[in-house]
Amino acid sequence: MVQGGKDYSKYFDFSGAKVIKEEEGKTTYRLKGRDITINAVPSYKDEKRRGKEEIEVHYDFAIPEEMRTFGAGKYYSITTYGCQMNEHDTEVMRGMFEAMGYTSTEDRRQADVILLNTCAIRENAEDKVFGELGHLKTLKTEKPELILGVCGCMSQEESVVSRILQKHSFVDVIFGTHNIHRLPHLLQNAMFSKEMVVEVWSKEGDIIENMPKKREGMRAWVNIMYGCDKFCTYCIVPYTRGKERSRRPEDVIAEVRELARQGFREVTLLGQNVNAYGKDFEDLDYRFGDLMADMSKIDIPRIRFTTSHPRDFDDHLIEVLAGGGNLVEHIHLPVQSGSTEVLKRMSRKYSRETFLELAAKIKKAIPNAMLTTDIIVGFPGETEEQFQDTLSLVEEVGFDSAYTFIYSPREGTPAAGMEDNVPAEVKKERLKRLNDLMAKLSRESNERMKGQIVEVLLEGESKNNTNVLSGRTRSNKLVHVEAPKEWIGQFAMVRVTEAQTWYIKAEPLEKISLQGAVS
Ligand code: 5AD
Ligand code: SF4
Repeated sequence: MVQGGKDYSKYFDFSGAKVIKEEEGKTTYRLKGRDITINAVPSYKDEKRRGKEEIEVHYDFAIPEEMRTFGAGKYYSITTYGCQMNEHDTEVMRGMFEAMGYTSTEDRRQADVILLNTCAIRENAEDKVFGELGHLKTLKTEKPELILGVCGCMSQEESVVSRILQKHSFVDVIFGTHNIHRLPHLLQNAMFSKEMVVEVWSKEGDIIENMPKKREGMRAWVNIMYGCDKFCTYCIVPYTRGKERSRRPEDVIAEVRELARQGFREVTLLGQNVNAYGKDFEDLDYRFGDLMADMSKIDIPRIRFTTSHPRDFDDHLIEVLAGGGNLVEHIHLPVQSGSTEVLKRMSRKYSRETFLELAAKIKKAIPNAMLTTDIIVGFPGETEEQFQDTLSLVEEVGFDSAYTFIYSPREGTPAAGMEDNVPAEVKKERLKRLNDLMAKLSRESNERMKGQIVEVLLEGESKNNTNVLSGRTRSNKLVHVEAPKEWIGQFAMVRVTEAQTWYIKAEPLEKISLQGAVS
């Protein structure tokens, strides 16, 4: 799997770099006085390739014996950018740090290791990370023994690794999304060699089960699959996360059962495209609908999932979700655009009409379902009329909320090569019009809830007012309730009294005990 022992200068601008050591599987360069050991680097070409080789599942992950006290008395800090997948990867890395004896700290000055778990989805996410590296340079100068690491999706980009090597050589370790399980070894290498260590596999590895995870709170994320094979033309994810690989159903079920036993109230099943789950099984005819049916039999109050692709949303899944129970009535269904023309250029593989049919089918089967979505405005060549198709689709479906984005070109993706003739001011103005419409729809949807009695999971004190608790309905609406603090972590029935744009206010009726909940 490791691509080492080769001449990496063809991957990067290594002007001025000298090879100082070549070992089996790795090459060490000296660049501007900094020694850099490269085990593997990302390559867009390899990341794009989808091989036929089988994915193996490994159950024997363990922190090496000699590393179990490696971090005793030391502190780590991880900053996470981007999606829930990254948040969950951070939980895995936290699990590994703690298994090595490290303690978590929020204070970076106290930290012995600082990791940035990065996101590559849009340019502004990347800018933030480079800005942060600027700040961290000062810290590293003051405390040279500090280990600074960059991981996550940005590490999978050739241009990012190249830029770090040339301009941020104070970074100690760069590792990719497929190398997370290698964290203990990479840390050890960086610490003892004092060289910068780079290990980014371009191709996905196998599935590694049984990595430690450090979860907090009452809601847990569970990865059910990795990667994405959709290759929407604007999106970097299929390159940074590799091909679709589903975890075995028995492993997912066992993990969720264990979380229920530990008292977690809610589980969110995660994947870039969860409803493609199981398509890669050669020996099993078992899809996402089957998994959700099995989830509904587990004694845990709420099961969510994110994110789904309209193309794979089949009738069996709708039928299973309509059964309700612990399968909540919230469906996040990214549409991206309401124009069939734009959808075609995005390679979304559905039309405006088929999306509308799907939304109608879901609403018919699950009448109280809340639909939310993702939308990109200003895709290359998007006309005013095509943008208006998006507005009209949003209104017709009646989404409850949406994540809205201005298109951001990502190097290596097909859309980055399309002529982008929509001026920046027009993109901004479209985003504003769309956001205004979403605010109106969200408020109307909240108004319709007035007087209703709903179940909320009370998660904690509200950010702005500690006398108020905030929680979520089954449909994922944010609710503020004046309820006793002892209700935190519990379910309660509440009556909706007031609608705001992005949340509702409610009065408490009674605390309830659902299966899995400790009352
Ligand atoms: N530019 C803007 N938004 C993007 N997304 C994905 N790639 C891009 C891009 N290049 C959005 C999509 C996706 C969400 C996670 O991020 O709407 O659903
Ligand atoms: Fe990106 Fe499309 Fe895959 Fe979603 S389905 S991760 S938007 S390529």
